[in-house]
Amino acid sequence: MLAVLAFAVGAKAGGPDKVIPRPVEFTLREGCFTPKKASDTKVSLMRGSWKELSGLKDFQKEAYYHITIDKRGISVKAASPKAAFYARQTLSQMAADGTPYSYCEIIDYPRFEHRGLMIDESRNFKGKDWLLKQLDLMASLKMSVLHLHLTDDAGWRLEVDSYPALNRLASWRKGKTWKDWRNGGNEYALEGSRDAEGGYLTKDEVKEIVAYASERFIDVIPEIEMPGHSRELCAAYPQTSCYDSTFSHHVLSSDLCPASDSTYIILEAVLDEVMDLFPTKYIHVGGDEAGMRSWKNCPKCQALMHEKGFTDVYELQNYLEEKIASYVKSKGRVMVAWDEVVRDEGLDKDAVVMSWRGTTNGIQAIGQGHKVIMCPTSYCYLDYYQDVSFKEPEAIGGYVPLSKVYSFEPMEGVPDGSEDLLSGVQGNLWCEFVPTPEHAEYMLYPRALAIAEVGWTPASAKDYASFFQRALCLTDRMKEDGYKTFDLRSEAGDRPESKLPVKHLALGKSVKFDSQWSSAYPAALEKTLTDGLLGTWTYHDKRWLGFLRPIDVTVDLGEKTVLGYISATFMGQLGNGVGVPEKVEYWVSDDGTYFTLAATVTREVPNADPRQVSFVNYGAPVDLSARFVRLKAEQNSDKSAPWLFIDEIIIK
Ligand code: ACM
Ligand code: ZN
Repeated sequence: MLAVLAFAVGAKAGGPDKVIPRPVEFTLREGCFTPKKASDTKVSLMRGSWKELSGLKDFQKEAYYHITIDKRGISVKAASPKAAFYARQTLSQMAADGTPYSYCEIIDYPRFEHRGLMIDESRNFKGKDWLLKQLDLMASLKMSVLHLHLTDDAGWRLEVDSYPALNRLASWRKGKTWKDWRNGGNEYALEGSRDAEGGYLTKDEVKEIVAYASERFIDVIPEIEMPGHSRELCAAYPQTSCYDSTFSHHVLSSDLCPASDSTYIILEAVLDEVMDLFPTKYIHVGGDEAGMRSWKNCPKCQALMHEKGFTDVYELQNYLEEKIASYVKSKGRVMVAWDEVVRDEGLDKDAVVMSWRGTTNGIQAIGQGHKVIMCPTSYCYLDYYQDVSFKEPEAIGGYVPLSKVYSFEPMEGVPDGSEDLLSGVQGNLWCEFVPTPEHAEYMLYPRALAIAEVGWTPASAKDYASFFQRALCLTDRMKEDGYKTFDLRSEAGDRPESKLPVKHLALGKSVKFDSQWSSAYPAALEKTLTDGLLGTWTYHDKRWLGFLRPIDVTVDLGEKTVLGYISATFMGQLGNGVGVPEKVEYWVSDDGTYFTLAATVTREVPNADPRQVSFVNYGAPVDLSARFVRLKAEQNSDKSAPWLFIDEIIIK
């Protein structure tokens, strides 16, 4: 158990200002109290205790608690057993480092109902005991949902009776880690065979997890992925996959065949067992990233498209989703799915959407009346790097430091009047590059602490400086309790150049683009290269302008200007196809028509670790006057690195 109450005399007092997530309202008073016996803490269930406040939503009323600590002791008024549980978590964190309690008054309740973590058990299996340990911490953080990604290409992680090959074959693979498995050709193995790696949660283990979570007021939402990310199911039951008539065999891909009766027979039998095991109202059925390639050549898929008048294979996914949604609904449950299921019309009204590809799809779904959970990659993907990549163990990419997670405002862009449809937030830990349970904790913490506070604390009461200090203390205690966490004290932080705007002669000047940036990385559009903002470690930050063609851009300084230095920096990351130019040319002109070459800067193209990020500066001293400065740069000869990313043209 995390943070048992311990009482020591003489240390500083523990107040609500130490707690994560930060309580909604509190007042600290002079003096402190050390409980000596159990009756010094009085917890009373007062069902209407929230009446002191107005306009609370049902889930807030249920979780509402009020703590008073003074010379008489600790008094808790809680609206429900759940609220009393939350009050105990607050008290436990306040005194966790052995201090007495500060006199104080606390009024607290959550901002959102869904305060979740998603754990990917498929890619690298961590098992029951590890999950129970994370539930302890989630409880301490007053989180409300554990979403388990139980099935994916790399392994089926749930015991199923009706289709035994799901466990005998699809739960086992050749390759201990996801990377070993992928590098070895994505092979499965029979349970008990010499090279079988992996496993699954037995039904008894699931029951234990669900009960343990329930005692901590945490809902466990299972995810059975479909129709993409389902290679293991296709391997175990090939009749769920598409048929290739050219080669007369079933295709082993990641996509289920949405036109095969067997697909539905098996999925429905699996869902029956899932719904027996997981009492939650919400059943997650995946829906993300179906490749759909096999559907184009499958006679069954093509016949179904013809019969239904579908013109795009995407409609086959909608067809599957509709059938599954109505099945889940017929059992009195509600379907949850990733945001690929959002479309103009036709998605079951009750379906809940998890918005991961940004928040736009979530906002569209809210506009259509769906409940939405926000978990956009750029704030909530805990498999992304949490510090500069060359200092960190390999991760999937990106850069989502603690401060970025903390800065997430889930309500941004949600139309007025629709706020109730935003159920909450979730941190997602995909585990392709997370080979061990310890590593999973390292990726989760402290960023899950920030997810908890974003989900609980009103935006107006959030403060990163205070949170950072509290996170330092809590992660120290977590380490004592056996959690492996990222070391916040040694965080290198963002690219130093990105932290302060730069002033230079081209700042705010207009830029003419003779070559167009890629619509995938438009950054701040035509302003990007002269906005004074240098890029961070990641090209997803809207500061790096991405080009898939040679760059030819001209800055207009407005008048003839004396120039001493021209420079630009390119980011390289070979593993993601991002190269840097062999040379950059700077041309100048007085009239914008006739240009003369002012400088050519050549650089060695770094040939580093493919996942390493490098920044190559092409600075050139010059001694001239001109109104127009033109930059030309081409992709280098490495065809596997077609991207160029540039953040600013600096002229001094
Ligand atoms: C996802 O990250 N593919 C939902
Ligand atoms: Zn098919």
